Amino acid sequence: MKLLRNVLAVGMGALLLGSCAKPKDAMEVKIDRLLSQMTLEEKIGQMNQLSGAGLSDDMKNQVRDGKVGSILNEVDVDVVNELQRIAVEESRLGIPLVFARDVIHGFKTVMPIPLGQAATWNPAVVEAGARVAAEEASAAGVRWTFSPMIDVSRDPRWGRIAESYGEDTYLSTVMGVATVRGYQTDDLADPTAVAACAKHFCGYGAAESGRDYNTTWIPEAQLRDVYFPPFQAAAEAGCATFMCSFNDINGVPSSGSKFLNIDVLRNEWDYDGLLVSDWASIQQMVPHGFCADLKDAAYKAANAAVDMDMAGYAYTSHLKELVEEGRVSEAVVDEAVRNILRLKFRLGLFDNPYAPKQDHPYYKEESLQTAKQAAEESAVLLKNEGNALPLDGGCTLLVTGPLADSPRDQMGTWCFDNAEGERAVTPLQALRQVNGLRVMYEPGLAYSRDRSQAGIRRAVQAARRADAVVCFVGEEAILSGEGKCRADLSLPGAQTELICALAATGKPLVLVVMAGRPLTIGTEVQLADAVLFQFHAGTMAGPALADLLLGKAVPSGKLPVTFPTMAGQAPVYYAHKNTGRPPVDVAHIDSIPVGAPQFSVGASSYYLDAGGWPLFPFGYGLSYTTFEYGEPHLSTDLLTESGTLTVTCDITNTGIYDAYETAQLYTRDLVASLCQPVRQLRGFEKVLIPAGETRTVTFELTPDDLAFCHADLRTYAEPGEFQVWVSTDSQSGKPVTFEYE
Ligand code: BGC
Repeated sequence: MKLLRNVLAVGMGALLLGSCAKPKDAMEVKIDRLLSQMTLEEKIGQMNQLSGAGLSDDMKNQVRDGKVGSILNEVDVDVVNELQRIAVEESRLGIPLVFARDVIHGFKTVMPIPLGQAATWNPAVVEAGARVAAEEASAAGVRWTFSPMIDVSRDPRWGRIAESYGEDTYLSTVMGVATVRGYQTDDLADPTAVAACAKHFCGYGAAESGRDYNTTWIPEAQLRDVYFPPFQAAAEAGCATFMCSFNDINGVPSSGSKFLNIDVLRNEWDYDGLLVSDWASIQQMVPHGFCADLKDAAYKAANAAVDMDMAGYAYTSHLKELVEEGRVSEAVVDEAVRNILRLKFRLGLFDNPYAPKQDHPYYKEESLQTAKQAAEESAVLLKNEGNALPLDGGCTLLVTGPLADSPRDQMGTWCFDNAEGERAVTPLQALRQVNGLRVMYEPGLAYSRDRSQAGIRRAVQAARRADAVVCFVGEEAILSGEGKCRADLSLPGAQTELICALAATGKPLVLVVMAGRPLTIGTEVQLADAVLFQFHAGTMAGPALADLLLGKAVPSGKLPVTFPTMAGQAPVYYAHKNTGRPPVDVAHIDSIPVGAPQFSVGASSYYLDAGGWPLFPFGYGLSYTTFEYGEPHLSTDLLTESGTLTVTCDITNTGIYDAYETAQLYTRDLVASLCQPVRQLRGFEKVLIPAGETRTVTFELTPDDLAFCHADLRTYAEPGEFQVWVSTDSQSGKPVTFEYE
């Protein structure tokens, strides 16, 4: 058995070396030269990422002794520069450290959570937001962020859906690439550039039952169609690093997966960036039941080409021994160290190791404007009965609800460097600045889980004196993000009671929901005249919402994820398969006569209580204006193997506001050797259409856009009939058909 392992380990080393046999450029030559001077201990040191501990003696000694390659969570620039000085001047080889941090949606100036960024359907503003984050974080010495999280996420129970770009592969791909570009620019060596990290590779968003860290079982064809594309695109866009996911996938934890990390990432995608474990995810292969102990975990992770151990001590504790025993070849270690050194060279750290001394670039006016634009475009108008919005700017307005004035909560999850909402402008503060508007404030509830009744009574009394009511409800920041899953997706606490009581006053009622995930708000939507949904939107949530509520801006956000009617529908997503019995004659549980015969209410694919469809579909979002879509026009109804099909569609703004509309291109492969989804997003365009005018959107489709992974794991388009839609969301529009031959 031991012999077999040796053969495997050595064989894998050769495989890895083989995959990198490219002509060597100057940087690779430098890497080789450095590597040839390193002891095994120094190599293992590079593979070790530690959590910051200030300038403790232990940390200084480890850096001096070359026992650490990277430090995460150290953002005091003086500490960063001093540790870097020790690494560069006092360690034997002077290899710089790389400092990492979870800068997920902003460092000081905070953008909407990634789910909200996806709701903008505007990659340019997403890229600009990442640029702001990189400028601010790099000033603190952070040159590596653990973002973007491009896990396709189809389960709103999963707390980390907040960090994702939602349920769709194409949208996640576009947003992921935009984010990478924003962090890295074209030149990683620019001192304001920050290495991005495509995470979590792979399948983490498919955690069974939406419970964090849970197991996943994903057939390879589905991995290739749904979960891989954002990662492959990130690799192609030059994303400098990747991170393993915590979950096991088809029985193998990602940190021990040769399939993911070697066969796919290194060999198929030819990736030469750094692969870091997740926090102690190597160690966690023991409780997963995949490794016997920490040594076994180090053995499996190293041989699965995980370059760096984040805070897990598996490599520092056991890798030397494993190499000496011949169970991990030194070539495997060398390859990992090469990837690590390559990142440091690419970041220019050998030439410019220190964070420049400068006035901090936080909260620059342009940065705040970017945050405001992102927040504004991220808000999705779900309902606007009787044009309740925009509000009359001269009215007496009751502002109420636990999210109206909660800077901390509007920041959302993962705001390590601005958790209290420093410089955040809340909706209450912003509305109070509006000239002519008379604002009364009565929070009703102190926080989203509050159940006290006294505040509700006060809010109702105040509502009676107001012309209109805007109620800010949702989730506190702590209710979404890592390890923050919910089985019940309703508004927490007594928020629904607050809304019912306000609605009973008969005053025009506008709800603004600020949350980290889709919520089951069907009842509340019915009670309100208008509903704006904004995923936690960061520093400038307040000014953005004030402009939207008063009509200085027009909502243009679209849902990046399906909203279920009831939590029990999850996972629920638009790109589902049709089944052999799509929903027909949907009966409601309360409508079934007592003693009804078994099949009297039919037998198709729906829920007796939640029906056959979600509350709001993917891509949905209204405007203060209305748009009319013409029929899509195809350049040909026969697409050939080397051909391109051009799809055009006229969209007319039939209302009175100039506004943006995001036109969405969907296709469906009607008959295929593996059943295909009922619709798949293939493109989108966000276009400004002045009131009364028409604009034409144009998309191009090639056979690559229609390809799917087959049972033999080859990806190509199958000849046959296809439908195509250009529509305002994933449920509407009339398809036209074409043939692919
Ligand atoms: C998360 C990662 C994160 C890492 C470092 C882990 O718990 O899963 O997404 O980057 O911690 O903080």
